Amino acid sequence: MLFKKKQDTSIDMSNLPRHIGIIMDGNGRWAKKRGLPRSMGHKAGAEALKKIVTEANKMGIEYITVYAFSTENWKRPKEEVDYLMNLLMDYLINAEKTLAGENVRIRAIGSRKELSEEMCRQIEKTENLTKDRDGIVMNIALNYGGREELVHSARRLCRMVKNGELNPDDITDSDIEDGLYTVNQPDVDLLIRTSGEQRLSNFMLWQVSYAEMVFVKKAWPDFKPRDLCECIRIFQGRGRRFGAI
Ligand code: FPP
Repeated sequence: MLFKKKQDTSIDMSNLPRHIGIIMDGNGRWAKKRGLPRSMGHKAGAEALKKIVTEANKMGIEYITVYAFSTENWKRPKEEVDYLMNLLMDYLINAEKTLAGENVRIRAIGSRKELSEEMCRQIEKTENLTKDRDGIVMNIALNYGGREELVHSARRLCRMVKNGELNPDDITDSDIEDGLYTVNQPDVDLLIRTSGEQRLSNFMLWQVSYAEMVFVKKAWPDFKPRDLCECIRIFQGRGRRFGAI
């Protein structure tokens, strides 16, 4: 059990981030360094993810959102896109087994329009299978883009205005939030990006407004539960003011 290890006792369990977002970057470079095809980096990345979700759930983290496939990732070679889609499909199909007994509730966030019918059916099936679990909520950002999500929310509000259900002058933050894929979930408290890049890449633009960002040099497949603990420790060392003094 991780928290019995000496190195992890410094985590303050009363000050955990409720929602962690992860940009799992560096799979391709990880594979290249080992003379492997990029797909092997994604495969290793999926394995790393299982361990991180298990650990986050054990710790009592309530929400974790992982960037699995962005709206821009369609620009990659077809072979890589197909591999990623198959990997995601397998992950969803095996979710019951791989995360068995771990009480993980799985949701997919992002636009379903461009996804295959088979993928959409599987997402619904996995979401339904895991919906009554009360452990960590794992949002898999799949065909997800932060701008697309905001457009999606704006369209909903425009429809409401058009139908006379809403006055434009009365629109609030929470009306916009109600149209996000993460409706009813807390904002991201801690955002982690691996592989040394320091940008958002269209990830959860609204929800990371007050997130603490931690950038890790390691590539995603090398990211271990102890690295997650280290990120949480860094988070706990930051002074969060939310615009106050
Ligand atoms: C970014 O690394 C990673 C992705 C675009 C895919 C992330 C997917 C996984 C970790 C595995 C599948 C996920 C699930 C939920 C099963 P990159 O390919 O851009 O790496 P590079 O910058 O080194 O080229």
